[in-house]
Amino acid sequence: MTEPAFPRVRPRRLRATPALRRATAEARLHPAQLTLPLFVGEGLTEPKPISSMPGVVQHSLDSLRAEIGRAAEAGIGGVMLFGIPEHKDAEGSGATDPDGILNVATRLAVAEAGDALVVQTDLCLDEFTDHGHCGVLDAEGRVDNDASLERYRDMAIAQAESGSQMLGLSAMMDGQVAAARGALDAAGRDDVALLAYTAKYASAFYGPFREAVQSSLQGDRRTYQLDPANRREGLRETLLDVEEGADIVMVKPAMSYLDVLADTAAASPVPVWAYQVSGEYAMIEAAAANGWIDRERAILESLVGLRRAGAEGLLTYWAIEVADWLRGRPSASGVLPVGAY
Ligand code: PBG
Repeated sequence: MTEPAFPRVRPRRLRATPALRRATAEARLHPAQLTLPLFVGEGLTEPKPISSMPGVVQHSLDSLRAEIGRAAEAGIGGVMLFGIPEHKDAEGSGATDPDGILNVATRLAVAEAGDALVVQTDLCLDEFTDHGHCGVLDAEGRVDNDASLERYRDMAIAQAESGSQMLGLSAMMDGQVAAARGALDAAGRDDVALLAYTAKYASAFYGPFREAVQSSLQGDRRTYQLDPANRREGLRETLLDVEEGADIVMVKPAMSYLDVLADTAAASPVPVWAYQVSGEYAMIEAAAANGWIDRERAILESLVGLRRAGAEGLLTYWAIEVADWLRGRPSASGVLPVGAY
């Protein structure tokens, strides 16, 4: 009589070799799932570094053109454009001006990208308002939901006319998806897709983005973005946005909201994306620059974790670099991490 083998169940069996691990991975990354956020500064003649996001810049129109070329070459899914106007005002008038920086950049990006990339645009007033809020203010200085929707209807039309193929609704105004959809359809633009930031939390992790868009936010966004304590409310926002006509729903930030992402993935009939935001980027870059973390492994782990939680698309400032790794190419620094998913 031989002893029965113990333990009989050996999960380590499938972890034994790189080939076994590769063949049994439950979640994967693919370049087409990645969207690269890009900042474009009005009046810039050369790219301007963003100190809290090492490696990320505010683009000039020329450097934007070159970056779109690199993004297409890397095979990523798309780009999300943010414009930083030279002059900001209370209404954010640069957002609806056909010659405003975001609309100019969109026309250029669409021409450059051809069929290779989905050109997406941030549909939010905060880059354009002098008070930095995602809407217009009433006489008491509060963000006026319904007056802001009027601006968002106009902004949706302006972006569609510039050629944007997908509008990223990120203001967290009630009814914004229905307002944008209604305005577009009435203008005969039922072809333009809506990416709704449905569960967008009032987060400290947007910190570096404020530098990136030179925002001088007065106060905070807690009266319109979700409280980080709330999980059920994230799902409620998602269901509402789907009902209002969102083509894709998005959770943001990513890493601290994996439960919301999993809930959304379970409940949503439309694709679910996640936005790995500026602060998440900055944390990993800062720790890596200090030698405290393995940069490439941390980047890949942070992204595959979002896929595992249910995100089908990922907005990440590392999109081109990660796409290169996934295609077996080292990044500019010469690094090619092993075991890229
Ligand atoms: C709104 C918008 C923000 C981000 C994306 N769209 C800022 C905010 O809501 O405060 C943040 C993205 C990031 O931090 O990377 N225009």
